Amino acid sequence: MNDAVRLVEVGARDGLQNEARTLAPAVRAELIGRLVEAGLRHIEAGAFVSPRWVPQMADTDQVLARLPKRADVTYSVLVPNERGVTAALAAGASEVAVFTAASEAFNQRNINCSIAESLARFEPVLQQAKAQSVPVRGYVSCVLGCPYQGHVPVEQVVRTASALARLGCHEISLGDTIGAGVPSAVRELLAACATALPLERLAVHFHDTRGMAVANCLAALEQGVRVFDSSVSGLGGCPYSPGATGNVASEELVYLFEGLGLNTGVDLDRLVAAGAFVDGHLGRATQSRVARAHHANNAANTTINSEST
Ligand code: HMG
Ligand code: MG
Repeated sequence: MNDAVRLVEVGARDGLQNEARTLAPAVRAELIGRLVEAGLRHIEAGAFVSPRWVPQMADTDQVLARLPKRADVTYSVLVPNERGVTAALAAGASEVAVFTAASEAFNQRNINCSIAESLARFEPVLQQAKAQSVPVRGYVSCVLGCPYQGHVPVEQVVRTASALARLGCHEISLGDTIGAGVPSAVRELLAACATALPLERLAVHFHDTRGMAVANCLAALEQGVRVFDSSVSGLGGCPYSPGATGNVASEELVYLFEGLGLNTGVDLDRLVAAGAFVDGHLGRATQSRVARAHHANNAANTTINSEST
């Protein structure tokens, strides 16, 4: 088994877009800086979408302006259209991500257009990004179910992912937006996608609504996937996906992969501390069981140490 995996940290975007409390750009940038310090090298920093649709992502340009300038870190941002990519490139994003869905009903609610219309909108996005040698990632949402239409045929996922690849997206992230999948469905999905696309171009993006995300990541790993989207402290959700909860926690994936002997490049202590930082600002408790165990162990060690002195 290839011994390296890449985590795409989406907490500062997918995580924060769904929180009732909007964090100031300086706090979002501080979180991302801490994630870089923890060893993450591919980080979603925000989104250039309508602030009327997703107010939590307003002022992403101010987040980017505050980030440590590092050639070894990719700062990615979501863009829904040409206006978004123009703003993202002007703000210095090192990758942009377009997003559509395998479900017409979800796409209408999320970006107010059909799948075909979204793909047409992405053409000038890819042209602009390509002209500045900025890579474009592509997302397909609802790959294992839709909050509005329920079942999503696997062929529709393959069609949409292939269309994004044809447009020039270097990597396609398959999103289980509502956390509906189980490992057998993941295996079936990836086998179908692999008939149309090289597996190296696929990433997986599991929300953990039903507690299946770690199992699904393991299934994807065993199928050959090496790129995994995750959120520090299990932040996340989509405002247009009612009831869906956070992404798989980055802490869980670091614990899992390092335990399997795979290199993530991430320092778990620092990652847990970055999670505690953002949770403090949001006034929430961590959704990561690994982070909780980490805090409990630290508390136990502190007690033992203070008893022995
Ligand atoms: P619309 O209403 O159809 O289009 O929205 P519009 O052209 O009429 O624009 C509406 C307003 O947005 C206008 O402003 C535009 O100027 C402005 P107003 O006149 O109301 O003041 N606008 C913009 N502002 C900033 N940046 C832009 C931009 N474009 C237009 N780029 C639109 C269409 C796509 C803009 C809207 O639907 C939108 O922004 N949607 C974003 C939804 C979103 O961000 N969802 C969450 C991310 S997707 C996700 O979480 C799933 C994922 O994690 C994978 C998974 O889990 O499955 C990726
Ligand atoms: Mg998501």
